[in-house]
Amino acid sequence: MKKTAIVTGGSRGIGFAIAHQLGLDGCNVVIMATSSEAKNKENLDKLKDDGIDYLYVQGSLGDSKSREELVNKTVDKYGAVHILVNNAGVAPTVRADLLEMSEESFDRVMDINTKGNMFLTQAVAKQMLKQPMEGKKRGTIVNISSCSAVVSSINRGEYCVSKAGISMLTTLYADRLAGDGIFVYEIRPGVIATDMTSGVHEKYDGLIEQGEFPIARWGASEDVANAVSAFCGDKFLYTTGNHIDVDGGFHIRRL
Ligand SMILES: NC(=O)c1ccc[n+]([C@@H]2O[C@H](COP(=O)([O-])OP(=O)(O)OC[C@H]3O[C@@H](n4cnc5c(N)ncnc54)[C@H](OP(=O)(O)O)[C@@H]3O)[C@@H](O)[C@H]2O)c1
Repeated sequence: MKKTAIVTGGSRGIGFAIAHQLGLDGCNVVIMATSSEAKNKENLDKLKDDGIDYLYVQGSLGDSKSREELVNKTVDKYGAVHILVNNAGVAPTVRADLLEMSEESFDRVMDINTKGNMFLTQAVAKQMLKQPMEGKKRGTIVNISSCSAVVSSINRGEYCVSKAGISMLTTLYADRLAGDGIFVYEIRPGVIATDMTSGVHEKYDGLIEQGEFPIARWGASEDVANAVSAFCGDKFLYTTGNHIDVDGGFHIRRL
């Protein structure tokens, strides 16, 4: 039976690569993003060209009505949700020192990155629980956090806190849902070339040149998508609650 995968923030960047890969793996894909379907035509046409069946749902992960609509529209069209990739995320609009960070920015980043992930996962898990087990698994949830879940950046503290929260909610949902055959994983990307990092390209070019990353190159969205694809297959049936770093070895402590 064809599986259905929801990918938040699947219109561009890492999320689009994930949606594309899961589509190539044989899934129907449901993409959620705040911009219109028309604005993302170029990427969506690539799905069409590859024969991938998709549904585009415009809305914000930070908004409870949008989350509800996302699940309802998915079930209306495809009848089930087998995979959820919580990918959408935002950086602070202003990189401010921790002592200057505003409450508004903290709330915005936490609402989208962490609260959105927490409650969309809750809604999708409830839907998955209505569905039958298929072999040893009922569903897969993959959370895209960041190396920032554990690495300090004092000029975007709210982002780091939001991503650390995703690590804990991965643990919580993995624990809660393991007995029901729903497995939950976390991917911590390092520096990946997307719109999100376009404003700090020079800074990261410099760090790569200085040898900060053992695999000395920018990560590609496809590097993350391939890891998601691996978790969503049937190779990790005795594994849940784990994270994998897709960061060129950046997490390795060195002397
Ligand atoms: N790039 C990196 O180096 C890097 C490293 C570590 C972790 N990450 C994480 O990986 C994920 C994807 O990053 P990216 O680099 O691909 O980011 P990006 O290029 O900025 O793309 C973000 C995606 O999320 C969507 N989005 C933004 N706000 C949303 C909202 N409120 N509701 C629903 N969708 C929303 C965007 O579409 P619209 O604009 O249409 O809403 C877009 O599809 C994020 O969680 C990010 O924190 C990225």
